[in-house]
Amino acid sequence: MSVKAAFGKHPEMVIRQEEPLNAGPPPHLLLGGGDLTPVDLFFVRNHGGIPDVDPAAWWLTIEGRVKKPFRISLEELQRLPRVTLAATLQCAGNRRSEMMAVKEIPNELPWGSEAISTAAWGGVPLREVLAAAEPEPAARHVELTGLDGTERHGHRFNFGGSIPLDKAVQPEVLLAYEMNGRPLPPVHGAPLRLVVPGYIGARSVKWLSRITLQEEPSSNYFQAKAYRLFPPGMGPDNVAWDSGLMLGPFNVNSQICSPVTGETRAPGPLPVRGWAFAGERELARVDLSADGGKVWVVTELAPARSRWSWRLWQATVELGAGEHELVCRAWDAAAQTQPEEPAHVWNFKGYMNNAWHRVRVTCA
Ligand code: MTE
Repeated sequence: MSVKAAFGKHPEMVIRQEEPLNAGPPPHLLLGGGDLTPVDLFFVRNHGGIPDVDPAAWWLTIEGRVKKPFRISLEELQRLPRVTLAATLQCAGNRRSEMMAVKEIPNELPWGSEAISTAAWGGVPLREVLAAAEPEPAARHVELTGLDGTERHGHRFNFGGSIPLDKAVQPEVLLAYEMNGRPLPPVHGAPLRLVVPGYIGARSVKWLSRITLQEEPSSNYFQAKAYRLFPPGMGPDNVAWDSGLMLGPFNVNSQICSPVTGETRAPGPLPVRGWAFAGERELARVDLSADGGKVWVVTELAPARSRWSWRLWQATVELGAGEHELVCRAWDAAAQTQPEEPAHVWNFKGYMNNAWHRVRVTCA
């Protein structure tokens, strides 16, 4: 059986790594399900192997700077009032390959634009469980630890990270055991994962087993070293790990999904569509250019499925015979927009590329 079939994934998924599985939908299938991504097309990002978890023997432990530490089973969690929320997950490494074209980024996955998807997550707000544990006044961060083991720089440890307590108590942060109305599949973190809408995907810890309230952010490698944004002059040989910005909320980003680069279309009106997302901020507008970014039109934005999901947009441009460069850029409610080139945001880990998205098409 192929690795895609083994994990219930679509045969056209683009595989960036087989072991552990890292894959996502090709651009022409990214919006294949409209604004909700079918589970078989939802991207997969794994740093270690997929653990084999027996849900009946699984517990979630809540400990650290809390007055009442406790553990809770899946059955007990599922008895709490369930909420469903559509939320977009995006990996901080989405669109890294465009940065790699500027300057090499060794030892990182060459994601195209397939490390983003949107699902309807079902579960319990994290704040219900935190409230029951009664955080101490000194608690500022919520550390999350998964059951999957990995190895970095000679050390074996479990995947983990943290989010500020101020974010953790927001109603959108979910302990999710359902995805698009079905039980969460193993490859996406069963029996339970966190979903942190608006934040980089790395904070949505899968196979969640431990929540630790603490004064400082997690010292886990994936919080303390990886998923930090370093200045352009820094690389693996001169990195000062503490100098990087610890990534949390997403920046504003957008993509053209149809047409895709390399397509040939008839001259005349060409419908163009894609997605846009502004993380914690509200999305305000998406512009489209058919001449490499000189003249722009405002696209039509579809209503949001939720405050935490991407928005689809579309516009029709009139193209004559020849080659054309389509470009999109989104704006958020604080009038922040996307940088023109990936070179302007290049960093040696290849995170947070939100440069204008460009697609080259020929009309003939
Ligand atoms: N949680 C665990 N336990 N292990 C991981 O490797 N990868 C993170 C996050 N949670 C990861 C994890 C990253 S980097 C991303 S982008 C998202 O999961 C991807 O979630 P998905 O595989 O369901 O798309």
